[in-house]
Amino acid sequence: MATNGKEQRTRAERHQEVGHKGLQLGKESQHLLESDALYQYILEISVYPREPEPMKELRVLTAKHPRNLMATSADEGQFLNMLLKLINAKNTMEIGVYTGYSLLATALALPDDGKILAMDINRENYELGLPIIQKAGLAHKIEFREGPALPILDELMQDEKNYGSYDFIFVDADKDSYLNYHKRLIELVKVGGVIGYDNTLWKGSMVAPPDAPFEKYVWAYKDFVMELNKALAVDPRIEICMLPIGDGITLCRRIK
Ligand SMILES: C[S@@+](CC[C@H](N)C(=O)[O-])C[C@H]1O[C@@H](n2cnc3c(N)ncnc32)[C@H](O)[C@@H]1O
Repeated sequence: MATNGKEQRTRAERHQEVGHKGLQLGKESQHLLESDALYQYILEISVYPREPEPMKELRVLTAKHPRNLMATSADEGQFLNMLLKLINAKNTMEIGVYTGYSLLATALALPDDGKILAMDINRENYELGLPIIQKAGLAHKIEFREGPALPILDELMQDEKNYGSYDFIFVDADKDSYLNYHKRLIELVKVGGVIGYDNTLWKGSMVAPPDAPFEKYVWAYKDFVMELNKALAVDPRIEICMLPIGDGITLCRRIK
């Protein structure tokens, strides 16, 4: 479609403002889209009107928390909820709970006898959201384990019955451990099951020039995320699909 000069100039100006290839580098945001307005459109047309009341309540509560940028975005929550229903997930795991938005999206999608093994080093944040999960009648699906995920995974691997037993695993915690998680999770997820690694586009840092105005923590984890992406790309045990939802999520479907 042809655009007039004014539109083209505006777009060019916007590119200049936002940096490399239009990506809003260094911007603390819950999305990677070039346009905030487009993201807002997605939220308003598709996500917020259909967001289950408990998820809305938890999102609003989390927005008041000082670390609220850690929360899974509402559009990603909707995506996870849909995905879990599509694959008929029943037995799931989550690494990195925070106040529980993705956990709640999962709990709402699972059947009444579904299970989520949820782990986080911080129980306090989980307990902020827990009353909302309880009020929604979903707490019985959740087993929360406080502590670093790696030893918990090692403990799970001591028991044969856990191998190939998970339909879905969502990983949204310490990025420097993702490859170590993958070594274990690939054994714990069932063949045909899915692992979702969150933040695999890591705010666009992998294509950013070295002077891009990112916070230190972004640069600190960039190489770990890139290593993970390279490893997943050549792992013959999985099929992958990298989606630019939220901060990027890579779905890995175990095929052997
Ligand atoms: C990005 S937040 C998770 C967001 C959450 N999925 C949501 O929907 O809001 C990352 C979480 O990982 C937790 N975490 C960090 N290191 C961890 C570790 N080694 N094991 C388990 N959890 C960890 C943090 O305490 C934090 O709550």
